[in-house]
Amino acid sequence: DWKMGSFVEDTIRLLREKIGDGKVLCALSGGVDSSVAAVLLSKAIGRQLTCVFVDHGLLRKNEGDEVEAVFGPKGPYELNFIRVNAQERYYRKLKGVTEPEGKRKIIGEEFIRVFEEEARKIGAVDYLVQGTIYPDVIESGLGESAVIKSHHNVGGLPSVVDFKEIIEPLRLLFKDEVRKAGLELGIPEYLVYRQPFPGPGLGIRIIGEVTEEKVRIVQDADAIYRKEIAKAGLDKGLGQYFAALTNMRSVGVMGDERTYDYAVALRAVNTSDFMTADVAEFPWDVLKIAASRIVNEVKGVNRVMYDLTSKPPGTIEFE
Ligand code: XMP
Repeated sequence: DWKMGSFVEDTIRLLREKIGDGKVLCALSGGVDSSVAAVLLSKAIGRQLTCVFVDHGLLRKNEGDEVEAVFGPKGPYELNFIRVNAQERYYRKLKGVTEPEGKRKIIGEEFIRVFEEEARKIGAVDYLVQGTIYPDVIESGLGESAVIKSHHNVGGLPSVVDFKEIIEPLRLLFKDEVRKAGLELGIPEYLVYRQPFPGPGLGIRIIGEVTEEKVRIVQDADAIYRKEIAKAGLDKGLGQYFAALTNMRSVGVMGDERTYDYAVALRAVNTSDFMTADVAEFPWDVLKIAASRIVNEVKGVNRVMYDLTSKPPGTIEFE
């Protein structure tokens, strides 16, 4: 697409002119928007860019390593990549916290604290990069929905980091344009077509208290579910799909033994704007295979359920 090609080239040139020999800091989440923004900056200014990636221990299985493989020193891009392994810290803070908004608050605040510590080590920077896209720009002007969505982006960062100006290279693009730019820039397809993943991560896909064991359970169940969906060729046709861990335990039987284990809930929705969503209907076989693999392969799970609720009245996430 010639239009995207010129966006990429023009943006790189403009960024280079604007930044000169300045220092730039970016919070990389591994999502599409921050990844595309980071690569644009990397192409424009190379090692004048530092990306901080916080692994809060609430990512999907292997996700931290996948992000590192692309953006770390062994990846194809020139930039300074800092991965902060903050898992222990997050689990400690989240211990005993069961209320959804309470968990969101802790995860968000801890992110800012970790990022701030890293920023302090780096010292004064000239610019802070954010992966804001056009729909974010529109939403922040819409009164109440600005409040609803306030947690969706890395809010609060600007005030804790010393810098001159925020750079938002994607602020005029829609999501599909960001994806095109990503492909143009050579970012791997699995990153470019990644489904949205909430900032608080698995923290809001584990109902109730978050523990390391529950994270392991939901990561393993989710990895199996995603693999089976991809194997059936259904992944690109779904809006968002994932496994969540209920805080319900129930009786089951495994061989000769009675079990008393957790129930995993599978969810898949189709949506155009994530404000409303329809439950996805997909082949029974795929669900059955995923369910049977999950109970057989994931220790601590003896029951799998499929969520049939649309939004509204349900939300896409469980918390
Ligand atoms: P809900 O659950 O509100 O989700 O129907 C709508 C979309 O927003 C995402 N979501 C979040 N994203 N921080 C985020 O960055 C959050 O706290 C959060 N809560 C929900 C959700 O994944 C879905 O795409």
